[in-house]
Amino acid sequence: MCGGAGFIGSHFVRQRTREHGDEVAVLDKLTYAGREENLRDLAGAPGYRFIHGAIEDPDAVAAAIDGCDAVVNFAAETHVDRSISGPEVFLTTQMNGTWTLLEAARERELRYVQVSTDEVYGSIEEGSFTESSPLDPSSPYSATKAGADLLVSSYAHTYDLETVICRGSNNYGPFQYPEKLIPLMVLNALHGDALPVYGDGMQVRNWLYVEDFAGGIGHALAYGAPGEAYNVGGPDECPNIDVVRRIIALTGRDESLIEYVTDRPGHDRRYSLGWEKIRALGWTAQVRFEAGLERTAAWYRDNAWWWEPIRSGEYRAYYERHYGRALG
Ligand SMILES: NC(=O)c1ccc[n+]([C@@H]2O[C@H](COP(=O)([O-])OP(=O)(O)OC[C@H]3O[C@@H](n4cnc5c(N)ncnc54)[C@H](O)[C@@H]3O)[C@@H](O)[C@H]2O)c1
Repeated sequence: MCGGAGFIGSHFVRQRTREHGDEVAVLDKLTYAGREENLRDLAGAPGYRFIHGAIEDPDAVAAAIDGCDAVVNFAAETHVDRSISGPEVFLTTQMNGTWTLLEAARERELRYVQVSTDEVYGSIEEGSFTESSPLDPSSPYSATKAGADLLVSSYAHTYDLETVICRGSNNYGPFQYPEKLIPLMVLNALHGDALPVYGDGMQVRNWLYVEDFAGGIGHALAYGAPGEAYNVGGPDECPNIDVVRRIIALTGRDESLIEYVTDRPGHDRRYSLGWEKIRALGWTAQVRFEAGLERTAAWYRDNAWWWEPIRSGEYRAYYERHYGRALG
């Protein structure tokens, strides 16, 4: 499990060890987004081990992979804004890292699952993308994710490696680093800080509760056909500004906190996934957006131990640089 100390990966590791009794080796570089705290409840658990290392480092990969019968790769640089200001590390992790893992899986003939994103298809005004829609990414983040997907497919075609790609829509839930929309808005609202909304706030996203995505990836790991990609979409679409208004209501604040800021360059207007193919495999999302958002806001309110060190560390400096104002 690569990138298991991050947001989605940590939920997946918990599900696999607790609900499926799997033995899991986590390989993670522990970037700013990867935190051992995300897995603190598993420390010392039988069948769980943690290896600190990068997926682009063949020695670290070899140390983690021996004894495994499948690789699931969540490891990535994941923030679009950071990919615009500094794309290099996105290439290293997404391209060299994925290639290094594919080589290690090929040598050992292991099943390989690549965790990918709806952003590889680009923006769509109406309707939804299927797995055969062309890849048309628009940021260095989504372009490197698309590049990694193509490399994964090439290993299925060329070397008969048993690969499956899972393309998820926008995830939300506990343990998500606060640079992303929902935790950013929840934590700023809880602190009475301004809520910075890009452009007109009418960018539409298809929201998927993190435990649902983790379950969908587990389903594809078990039942996905080799060489195939599966879209894993959420049940509800919502424009960003409506997400912010719901968070204001959940945290008892008012709309005076909203502050419209200059839009992200090349900001995609709408993402939408059709997910008939994974539904036909027997998976469906369980958590509707309203219930998931309420659960998420409550988790951040009740788990200051998790976000306090983040809000006083690297993230604080990042936020000041990016939004030109300090956190309260
Ligand atoms: N968050 C979403 O909405 C979303 C939606 C669909 C798909 N995805 C994909 O799911 C995966 C996980 O996303 P997330 O939101 O949990 O990200 P995250 O940023 O919270 O976690 C990424 C993890 O990868 C680790 N990592 C980064 N570079 C590494 C490297 N070179 N070697 C080893 N570990 C490395 C980090 O330390 C961190 O633990 C990513 O591949 C992302 O593209 C995310």
